[in-house]
Amino acid sequence: MIRFDTVTKKYPGNPRPALNGVDLEVQRGEFVFLVGASGSGKSSCLQLILKEQGPTRGTVHVLGHDLVSISNRKVPYFRRNLGVVFQDFRLLTTKTVFQNVAFSLQVIGKSRGFVQEAVPDVLKLVGLDGKGGRMPHELSGGEQQRVAIARAVVNKPQILLADEPTGNLDPATSAGIMQLLERINGNGTTVVMATHEAAIVDRMRRRVVELVDGRVVRDETKGGYGDTASIIDITPLPERGEQAEKAKAEAEEAASTPDTHSVAVPVTVESVPDAAPAVPEDADDTATDADTSEHLSLAERLGLRSNSDRGDDEQNVGPTT
Ligand SMILES: Nc1ncnc2c1ncn2[C@@H]1O[C@H](COP(=O)(O)OP(=O)(O)OP(=O)(O)O)[C@@H](O)[C@H]1O
Ligand SMILES: [Mg+2]
Repeated sequence: MIRFDTVTKKYPGNPRPALNGVDLEVQRGEFVFLVGASGSGKSSCLQLILKEQGPTRGTVHVLGHDLVSISNRKVPYFRRNLGVVFQDFRLLTTKTVFQNVAFSLQVIGKSRGFVQEAVPDVLKLVGLDGKGGRMPHELSGGEQQRVAIARAVVNKPQILLADEPTGNLDPATSAGIMQLLERINGNGTTVVMATHEAAIVDRMRRRVVELVDGRVVRDETKGGYGDTASIIDITPLPERGEQAEKAKAEAEEAASTPDTHSVAVPVTVESVPDAAPAVPEDADDTATDADTSEHLSLAERLGLRSNSDRGDDEQNVGPTT
């Protein structure tokens, strides 16, 4: 689904490569953490998957496309299979929650009917049922990130890329966001998440790819954040006798008490709308260029649309694998 073959990425004016001979393969349905110190190449890796950058050497294949040779015209259509979430949410501040999510469908020409059905469904999925009319500034950080996730997954992408999605959130809110990403992964979306947050990685026990200076130094199926995670827990065991009994009782009580700090995520899993649109992409009832042109630069920044994405001769290069 994603394959890097000896990928090296150098940026102009920076002699040190951001990625250096990276080989990486991610299968459909995986949940992969990219970890490593600041500057180790995590974001560069995600940008290569999105075709926001090209490799200096090596090849990148995503969803059956060779991203080195894919034509510029096809890139926006390729990107429709990918959702992206960032640390700073990047919501449209003058639009409501509903409009923020709807926008990502409108720019790719989904019909009004499709939008009206899909947006409430996905808002329910992310736990924002009934909050569609709010403005972003009327939401908490965790709620804003849920909107960003809703926007990223409303078109049911095959791959969700998340670059430090919990970086601006407190631990309890982050836990709720991670539950949501797990749920989206459980619905079949491949998730690749860059993060610094050891506690999250250690708790999830998912695949961990660690970068150091642009090289993959570790690729573990059920890994922790770093070396410290593999060190045996040296927390002192309770003393024998009465104290041990007390500790055991406390542990049992804790296990049976719901964690009141965790952020609630709806119990019922609502699936996001089918990847196959309810109406043809070229249906009449679509947003016009006039509707969307004012937001084109933003759409481009979000990887939703580019200037070359406006012709009638569009060829959807959608899912091939
Ligand atoms: N556009 C750019 N131009 C020049 N150098 C860049 C550019 N983007 C990244 N770099 C450099 O490439 C290296 C890897 O950066 P990258 O952003 O991929 O790291 P990161 O692991 O995501 O770091 P962080 O955890 O701080 O987000 C760094 O040395 C960085 O300075
Ligand atoms: Mg980064």
